[in-house]
Amino acid sequence: SQEPLVLGIETSCDETGVGIVRGRTLLANAIASSMDEHARFGGVVPEVAARAHLEAMTPTIERAVADAGVDLRDLDAIAVTCGPGLAGALMVGVAAAKALAISLGKPLYAVNHLVGHVGADLLQGENLRSAVGEAGELELPTVALLVSGGHTSLLLVRDLVSDVEMLGETIDDAAGEAFDKVARLLGLPYPGGPQIDRVATGGNPNAIRFPRGLSQPKDMEKHRYDFSFSGLKTSVARWMEKHVETGEEVPVADVAASFREAVADVLLTKALSACKDLGVPRLLLGGGVVANARVRELAQDRALAAGVELRVPPLSLCTDNGAMIASLGAQLVAAGNAPSSLEFGADSTLPV
Ligand code: KG4
Ligand code: ZN
Repeated sequence: SQEPLVLGIETSCDETGVGIVRGRTLLANAIASSMDEHARFGGVVPEVAARAHLEAMTPTIERAVADAGVDLRDLDAIAVTCGPGLAGALMVGVAAAKALAISLGKPLYAVNHLVGHVGADLLQGENLRSAVGEAGELELPTVALLVSGGHTSLLLVRDLVSDVEMLGETIDDAAGEAFDKVARLLGLPYPGGPQIDRVATGGNPNAIRFPRGLSQPKDMEKHRYDFSFSGLKTSVARWMEKHVETGEEVPVADVAASFREAVADVLLTKALSACKDLGVPRLLLGGGVVANARVRELAQDRALAAGVELRVPPLSLCTDNGAMIASLGAQLVAAGNAPSSLEFGADSTLPV
């Protein structure tokens, strides 16, 4: 029998994503982003995102169907992100998926956004190249570090469809959010991650020792695998204030490089200690912050030194997208999981 043809819908943040897969083969990955609309606010505005999803949904579905060259009637299932994420944004995707499932008479699978990021790693297709080296089959168990503007989570994945454990997550800002806020302090435009990456290239990462959140011995019992970035952001703000008082020009490149180093260091230190503690020699990265040059470089260096196999899906699949949701949906269908009843709704704090 042929592998399942699945359409996935993703609307947890500011990307309207509709992807189509056949099993592990990527057929289409259409995305519309409302990022530009949030730029003047310096961060994603939930109401603006929800409205943009509503406008983008139908055209994005149409584009995915055209790109994949399939007929909606041939779908085996529809999958949709039901959480975690922004409630109003999620609701638009869930409503669209239900409407599509009911009108086409297709089974519907409600899936977790974070697990979807791991599902991205299964996909194969033309023009899909791993962001680091050549990767074979995804082997389990694996530790997964998911870092974006909306989440910073460390997962232990033993089985994609039945056994995913949350090891830790941010207790305040997401890593990408910290990049965006610090970029703002430095007078750089939104989204700040790519800007800081660019400016940091010429700076000294050891110029200023910014704090690594939740890394003191006293944090290790309760927050060993959790993250905190709000103290780091405040520390950068304080450093800037003090420096401005001296009347000298702010060394933007050094601040950016030192901040980026602090984020990359704490992310990889925690992820690799999870690999070591749990005896899992595999680490998978996902989320928009994976685009960060220093995060990728440090991940490669530290993974190599620790004897850990590092996997990074292509960047187009690291940022939020519908294909990863379709991919997870296809796994659920293949595993014989029952579809979701239509009673489910968006759950902004959905656990894994
Ligand atoms: O996964 P993503 O596209 O989804 C959302 O969270 O919406 O991630 C976007 C986040 C933003 O906060 C952005 O600043 C950050 O990822 N980001 C980066 C880089 N590129 C994007 N952060 C650090 N360095 C980068 N090169
Ligand atoms: Zn995400």
